[in-house]
Amino acid sequence: MSNTAPRKILVTSALPYANGAIHLGHLLEYIQTDIWVRFQKSRGHDCHYVCADDAHGTAIMLRAELEGITPEALIDRVSRDHQADFALFGVGFDNYHSTHSEENRYFSELIYTRLREKGHIATRDIEQMYDPEKGLFLADRFIKGTCPKCRTDDQYGDNCEACGATYTPAELIDPVSAISGATPEVRSSTHYFFKLPDFADFMHEWINDGHVQPQIRNKLLEWFESGFNEWDISRDAPYFGFEIPDAPGKYFYVWLDAPIGYLASFKNLCDREGIDFDAYWKRDSEAEVYHFIGKDIVYFHALFWPAMLHGAGMRTPTAVNCHGFVTVNGAKMSKSRGTFIKAATYAEHLNPEYLRYYFAAKLTAGVDDLDLNLEDFAQRVNSDLVGKVVNIASRCAGFIKKLGGGKLSAHCAEPQRLARFIAAGDEIAEHYEAREFGRAMRRIMELADEANTYIAEAEPWVLAKQEGREQEVLDICSVGINLFRQLMVYLAPVVPSMAEDARQFMKLETLAWDSRQDLLLDHEIAKFKPLMTRVETDRIDAMIEASKEDLVEEQKLKETPKGPLADDPIAPQIAFDDFTKVDLRIARIAKAEYVEGADKLLRLTLDIGGETRNVFAGIRSAYAPEALEGHLTVMVANLAPRKMRFGVSEGMVLAAGDDDGIYLLEPHSGAQPGQRVR
Ligand code: 2FM
Ligand code: ZN
Repeated sequence: MSNTAPRKILVTSALPYANGAIHLGHLLEYIQTDIWVRFQKSRGHDCHYVCADDAHGTAIMLRAELEGITPEALIDRVSRDHQADFALFGVGFDNYHSTHSEENRYFSELIYTRLREKGHIATRDIEQMYDPEKGLFLADRFIKGTCPKCRTDDQYGDNCEACGATYTPAELIDPVSAISGATPEVRSSTHYFFKLPDFADFMHEWINDGHVQPQIRNKLLEWFESGFNEWDISRDAPYFGFEIPDAPGKYFYVWLDAPIGYLASFKNLCDREGIDFDAYWKRDSEAEVYHFIGKDIVYFHALFWPAMLHGAGMRTPTAVNCHGFVTVNGAKMSKSRGTFIKAATYAEHLNPEYLRYYFAAKLTAGVDDLDLNLEDFAQRVNSDLVGKVVNIASRCAGFIKKLGGGKLSAHCAEPQRLARFIAAGDEIAEHYEAREFGRAMRRIMELADEANTYIAEAEPWVLAKQEGREQEVLDICSVGINLFRQLMVYLAPVVPSMAEDARQFMKLETLAWDSRQDLLLDHEIAKFKPLMTRVETDRIDAMIEASKEDLVEEQKLKETPKGPLADDPIAPQIAFDDFTKVDLRIARIAKAEYVEGADKLLRLTLDIGGETRNVFAGIRSAYAPEALEGHLTVMVANLAPRKMRFGVSEGMVLAAGDDDGIYLLEPHSGAQPGQRVR
């Protein structure tokens, strides 16, 4: 690295949807990407890591509705939660943005209009299921019904979980909207399409040009051979997203503006830090752009996205790096088994760096699934990180303190061994670069074994008991600390927090890759503190139990919509005639006063235009009497008088209220006391 210019590298992880919590399945990707980015930064490259929340679409709109809040409020909250979770796991984005941002609107419109100008956008009418009650077109997953093949009930609109049949929602027997339960209707509407087939030749070349892993290339070629369709990029209102230019009521489909969110987040970073955006994204850019994604979203990233970028005159990604899924104890993550583990739940019980190390130890550059076997997890972290790596420092630190006054020996007793450890950095770097983290970890642990064997054979604790051999002991332990330092340089991308503690212990300015070349001679170190403790299996059990409880909480939210209606549902219907029996009048609050002995009530004297009424209202907790006098409100004027302990109440004022507050109704200005309210 020292002789070559720093590479310009932009790295992204997939943008998580803004309607759910980060879980261990997500974390594999963010940890994989973060390790790679930290490695590149350690090597001195100009590497930027950006991400964002994927904030648009029907699911987010419906989730906000379920919670009784606006989509904007939902995505703000989820973004904060996501960022807090990522921070717990040491995922060090240089920028975390949102697809619901001005930068993203700008780039979505720019790319779309460029494609349109070049003739790559088509429009045509399509027929789709429509929920007449919600006023929404329904994606297939929002339609349920009986499978037309095997007649199993309650199957989704595109495939049957019982018999595996695939079909169109129109073929379902007795289809219903999964949102409202209404029977869907078929309706027609104009949609906008990206003409992917225009890019067939370009894509064929791109796929074969080393931008994707071999397994992914094969998959893409299979798709390629079955022929491309045009891609529907529009959705009808109501939709939470960006309206398409010159197409009122039509919105960009969430998957159109999601990858553009990579550009938006990077632009936001560039504007903040003065980085040249075009140097990364112009067509002939020499910068490198890498997307890390799961294998389930290859289609979007390795077909649509490069074609869109190419069509809009921009550069395409250097590589799209796919990974497999996380399984736990050999099976798909399961909510009922407690293996669907949220990031926050994990972090309440276990050190996030255990997971970073375990994932690193098992990651390859391929797309195979990665099994988090919880027994193996505990065993491997304890044996490698605690038993091998930390052990080197803890065995040596005491002697350095005692015999060197906290200073390492001024000469190196094992120069060749150190030289080999330093040279191993080149091989380890190659493994990191190639995303073969498992190989890198194995090589690092081989070195750790060697360091432990060296110390064990030299037996400094035996020599320390013999007179006159203090310098030898100091020399051996100084070699130990130097070897430990090499290991921490190599491990720092994986366990950044432990590495930071180790850096402070060794009083080093940096653990950057090249810093390992200089030996630590006559160098002061700090008092040793344990750098990592063992994984306790009862913490793992507690985490599994807590994950089962998370499921119960989620279930409650699904069953009970949040907001006032949850606790206070709408009363049974009444006839219009019943309503007209209630005589509502505008009233002026002529006087308001406390009622002695009543801590909830105020006595109101209400002027209803030529007549006054005495009303006791339970609003004392919300209003001081003097704040009410002169205000207009609404009263029920024909309520039968009620005799109360403090006098007779001749009617009732209208107020909204619950445990959180009381709000008296007030008409717009201009209303007159005594006017009828209907
Ligand atoms: O699959 C998902 O979770 C998507 N939210 C990923 C989007 S990645 C990029 F295109 F934005
Ligand atoms: Zn079926």
